[in-house]
Amino acid sequence: MTETQYIKDQYKRPMKDLRISVIDQCNFRCTYCMPAEIFGEDYRFLPFNELLSFDEIVRLAEIFAKLGTEKIRITGGEPLMRKNLDQLIARLYEIDGINDIAITTNGVFLVKQAKKLKAAGLDRVNLSLDAIEDEVFKEINGRNVNTKPVLKGIEAALDAGLKVKINMVVKKGMNDSQILPMARHFKGTGVILRFIEFMDVGNHNGWNMDTVISKQEIIDRIHAEMPLEPADHNYYGEVADRFRYLDGEGEIGVISSVTESFCSSCTRIRLSADGKLYTCLFATSGFDIKTHLRQHASDHELTLELIKLWSGRKDRYSDERAEGKPLKKEKIEMSYIGG
Ligand code: GTP
Ligand code: 5AD
Ligand code: SF4
Ligand code: SF4
Repeated sequence: MTETQYIKDQYKRPMKDLRISVIDQCNFRCTYCMPAEIFGEDYRFLPFNELLSFDEIVRLAEIFAKLGTEKIRITGGEPLMRKNLDQLIARLYEIDGINDIAITTNGVFLVKQAKKLKAAGLDRVNLSLDAIEDEVFKEINGRNVNTKPVLKGIEAALDAGLKVKINMVVKKGMNDSQILPMARHFKGTGVILRFIEFMDVGNHNGWNMDTVISKQEIIDRIHAEMPLEPADHNYYGEVADRFRYLDGEGEIGVISSVTESFCSSCTRIRLSADGKLYTCLFATSGFDIKTHLRQHASDHELTLELIKLWSGRKDRYSDERAEGKPLKKEKIEMSYIGG
């Protein structure tokens, strides 16, 4: 097969974005993602031989590109903990049809790696930072790390010529005190700060509706001090709603998967570090493509599996939650599927 074959799911959504988790480990223990009590010394992370190799990832990405995927995001855990990640990026960059390569990271290792990653073909970095005050940040990341290494990571990324967005998950009582300080800090810097409604992903983050600060409340709080106006999405399927500062000093984003879900334009498929494909962030089980790879399936056979998986897709979990459907009990961990 040489030509791109566009495929759509049951709700006519194309398979545009591939999110590849390259490792399930992280150097942080954020309380809402990998609480230290659960992800302690005894926790069994994936052994190296269970991780997809770079050859396997590249082979799959080539097939995805032929099915219409244009964008790749590398995630983790903390993706920069995967050795020689720049070599993977360089190979993904060569794939015809892939026109955007990004990474979601906590940023600590960017000081060492940003230049290498940019040279390999990385376009953009989304960097998680949930507080600007050290005391709040230390509480959240579970490793007593202050904001300095992350702020240095942001600078390193900008110096390397990477586009940078900041992701701040907002959880009531955890860091809503930081909404305004974070907005003030990044206003006028060219770095786009995005506030994320706390989601009911994983099984250990103690989510309930009372812990969510809504998009509206976030916008109201910021608008009262720094007036905003809505802006259009940059591309179809963008998860963040954009708002511009009226004084021209940049923009912010809000990702409202709880109060205004966006499943109808969800074009994302996720590949876990151990080679399972998930058609929704809230899926309970994945499709084991690694077994097919390791049993020497041909490209044609792999293509047929992907077509079958995506064309049968009916996932719309966040929409269903908003419609009042009961929450699922067993969900995959965010650190395993990469957000
Ligand atoms: P851009 O390409 O810069 O727009 O990045 P992104 O927002 O798609 O990716 P990122 O990894 O930065 O994710 C930001 C937040 O959006 C995280 O909390 C993700 O879990 C959440 N998110 C991304 N995709 C989805 C999705 O398909 N469904 C839901 N519910 N949340 C998502
Ligand atoms: N709700 C919303 N976002 C979350 N993330 C991790 N856990 C949650 C959650 N429960 C974010 C991370 C990172 C991205 C991949 O997902 O902070 O920015
Ligand atoms: Fe690591 Fe990101 Fe999870 Fe924090 S939110 S523990 S930085 S993967
Ligand atoms: Fe996509 Fe599932 Fe998120 Fe809806 S809940 S936007 S279908 S990943």
